[in-house]
Amino acid sequence: MAYYSDEIIEEVRSRTDIVEVISQYVNLQKKGTQYFGLCPFHNEKTGSFSVSPQKQMYYCFGCGAGGNVFSFLMAYENMTFKEAVEELAPKCGVTLPQREMTYQEKQRADKRSRLFEINKEAAGYYYKMLRSDAGKQAMDYFNKRGLTPDTMHKFGLGCTSKYSDSLYKYLREKGYEDEILKDCGLITIDEKRGGHDKFWNRAMFPIFDANGKVVAFGGRVMGDGEPKYLNSPETEIFNKSKTLFGLYFARKTRREQFILCEGYMDVISLHQAGFDNAVASLGTALTEGHAGMLKRYVKDVYLSYDSDGAGQKAALRAIPILKNAGISCRVINMSPYKDPDEFIKALGAEEYEKRIAQAENSFMYQVRMLQNNYDMTDPEKKSDFQKEAARMIVTEFPTQLERENYTESVAARFNIPRDALAKYILELGQSGITAKKDNSNRQYEAKPGKPKDDGMKMSQRLLLTWLVEEATLYSKIKEFVGPDDFEDGVYKQVATEVFKYCEANQPVDTARIVDLFMEDDERKTVAALFNTTVGELTDSSDLSKALKETLLRIKKNSLELAQKNGANLRSLVEGKKKLQRLERIEISI
Ligand code: GTP
Ligand code: MN
Repeated sequence: MAYYSDEIIEEVRSRTDIVEVISQYVNLQKKGTQYFGLCPFHNEKTGSFSVSPQKQMYYCFGCGAGGNVFSFLMAYENMTFKEAVEELAPKCGVTLPQREMTYQEKQRADKRSRLFEINKEAAGYYYKMLRSDAGKQAMDYFNKRGLTPDTMHKFGLGCTSKYSDSLYKYLREKGYEDEILKDCGLITIDEKRGGHDKFWNRAMFPIFDANGKVVAFGGRVMGDGEPKYLNSPETEIFNKSKTLFGLYFARKTRREQFILCEGYMDVISLHQAGFDNAVASLGTALTEGHAGMLKRYVKDVYLSYDSDGAGQKAALRAIPILKNAGISCRVINMSPYKDPDEFIKALGAEEYEKRIAQAENSFMYQVRMLQNNYDMTDPEKKSDFQKEAARMIVTEFPTQLERENYTESVAARFNIPRDALAKYILELGQSGITAKKDNSNRQYEAKPGKPKDDGMKMSQRLLLTWLVEEATLYSKIKEFVGPDDFEDGVYKQVATEVFKYCEANQPVDTARIVDLFMEDDERKTVAALFNTTVGELTDSSDLSKALKETLLRIKKNSLELAQKNGANLRSLVEGKKKLQRLERIEISI
């Protein structure tokens, strides 16, 4: 932020049309004064995503994503604020001052872009090799695994040669020095032996980041051999625990869930079979980073891990990580096949679709896996299992409602006497065992990322949106309500700005106000502040009534707070007077 002056930033923003920029990513349709489309930040079938040319802001009524043109690029293209400014400046004819980066930052940015370049070069090299004579073995291998030419093309599949330095030579010829090649993840530079490829004689799977840039590779031996897969090490552009294979394609799916699997081949087979929502974490166990990435796109995930012991273990590890990120998951049963790739090859897409429909609630899956550890023919072991299942219900679910529902299901499913189970659960609860954490909010949250809310904030947002949209309103309300009546923090700061514009009789520059806030969450809040709707109220007497109620609510609330916080008597009396006056008069819109 500090790189460019506020004036420059403002110039770029005001010369840029947000509708034009977002149209490059989202299909927008004009409705009234706004444009609407499908939200690129969460999966939806109805267009809740709005772009306002007047406010130069976007806002999603579904998931709460919002901001100005800079925050859009930051969220969608994963740019930094500075990168977003630099992206837009040349397009609107603003020349940015030169000294913006420190030497080190420039070095780092240059290096990253060179690493992207090298990985792209390598992907092209491997891609061509697969389609040449040298690639025959790999091509046979992919064919044998049932991949169509289209699929191979879509995933950019390739292969390496038999020689252990052909990519190295190729990249050197292209002008890349050892200095950079040693950090790209594909080449080892040895003092004595010189440069060598990390991958040779392998079928190659490029790994794209969410924006479709190649950041790494997986390489498989063709046939049997160890290690089966080699993956690029982490580099300055490849963070394993934040990269999901297939995400670049899956983020465009219209399905509301993702399918999470284990392997490259699983993802590719699923996409080929029409499941364009499949992703995989790469050879590493699922991390919080992965879960965070997933949460940006979906709130439900189907686990389609291997059906063997290792896959079950991995699923049991993944479930709590997903749940903690606020993602609910179900587990797809693939038996008698090992993984989705084999399943689809054997039974086809339709059968897999059925398995999706039958996917098991993740808690029931956890209990079922637990049961496998007990000898159910031994009454003692059986009781141990049942007690453990009861404990799981108590620690997992904070509400009585959930506990009873799960008691019901678990009793029925695992043949446990229902009343005895319920009684035991009650005892556990009374003995002070509680849920790990209160996740009840999450359970009732309607949409991913939607800010929690109360009526008061709603009223304050409504008033701010109103002030922005209806220039004549200010003169009618200013004697009653001021910025101090708004909640501390973002609300009050925004209100202060809005009132300043109104006082100066200028249109409110909403997009500028967004840039006063650095944090993504704050920007979202600002977007929400300017995008609150009055709902179905259309006739002007309704509007007047709604406005008066809104003002009253805000004023009463702030007076109560002031009283609680021991504000001085004079200001309290003054506030009360305003409130009484407000109660008596009619405000017309
Ligand atoms: P195929 O045998 O080609 O069908 O592989 P798969 O995708 O079914 O792989 P598998 O279930 O054996 O492993 C799942 C994922 O773990 C793979 O896609 C790799 O990302 C990773 N993986 C498997 N084997 C290795 C290995 O030997 N080394 C490393 N680093 N990763 C591996
Ligand atoms: Mn497999």
